[in-house]
Amino acid sequence: MKRVAILISGSGSNMEALINNMVGNHPARPVIVISNKPTAAGLNKARSKGVPTAIVDHTLFDTREDFETALHAQLEPLKPDILALAGFMRILSPQFISLWRGRILNIHPSLLPKYPGLHTHEKAIAAKDTEAGCTVHEVTEDLDAGPILGQARVPILPNDTKDTLAKRALEAEHMLYPAVLNRFATGNKELIEFP
Ligand code: GRF
Repeated sequence: MKRVAILISGSGSNMEALINNMVGNHPARPVIVISNKPTAAGLNKARSKGVPTAIVDHTLFDTREDFETALHAQLEPLKPDILALAGFMRILSPQFISLWRGRILNIHPSLLPKYPGLHTHEKAIAAKDTEAGCTVHEVTEDLDAGPILGQARVPILPNDTKDTLAKRALEAEHMLYPAVLNRFATGNKELIEFP
């Protein structure tokens, strides 16, 4: 059974979808949810599902390195096989990534390689794209650029705002991320594409 640590910063809706999916004959189970923000709503969602939680508040550390040392100290004893970043809003250093290489996943709200970084839905609407979506990828030293494991496409409708598009894309995220994690936990890196 693979052990999954989920890192969050906010609402944790993707975390919730992942926890809900890791049941029955799923090859993985959540072992901890860690947030860099003490007020992350996802922490209570995790606790209500019986998943242990921890807070590593990045504002309490003078350097990124000190924060990541504290984060690693929370993770290492639990021996997670996979780190699933789910709305985690900190950029991890190459040093940290090298400790967990090949075992970190992230979900990004665009069809990478289009729109790495922030404000992805606004950019897609401004570019008059007809579709948007989300990508699950392995995390490497290059931000939002690791090997793609899954993508889900959603239409951009004529009257979409960044919020209506974000809602549609988030629903796709909640389908895609669990499907990718399920497959990744068996060692299968074959691309998943929805629809
Ligand atoms: C989502 O748009 C996700 O793609 C990005 O963070 C946002 C919030 O995710 N990684 P969640 O609701 O906290 O899972």
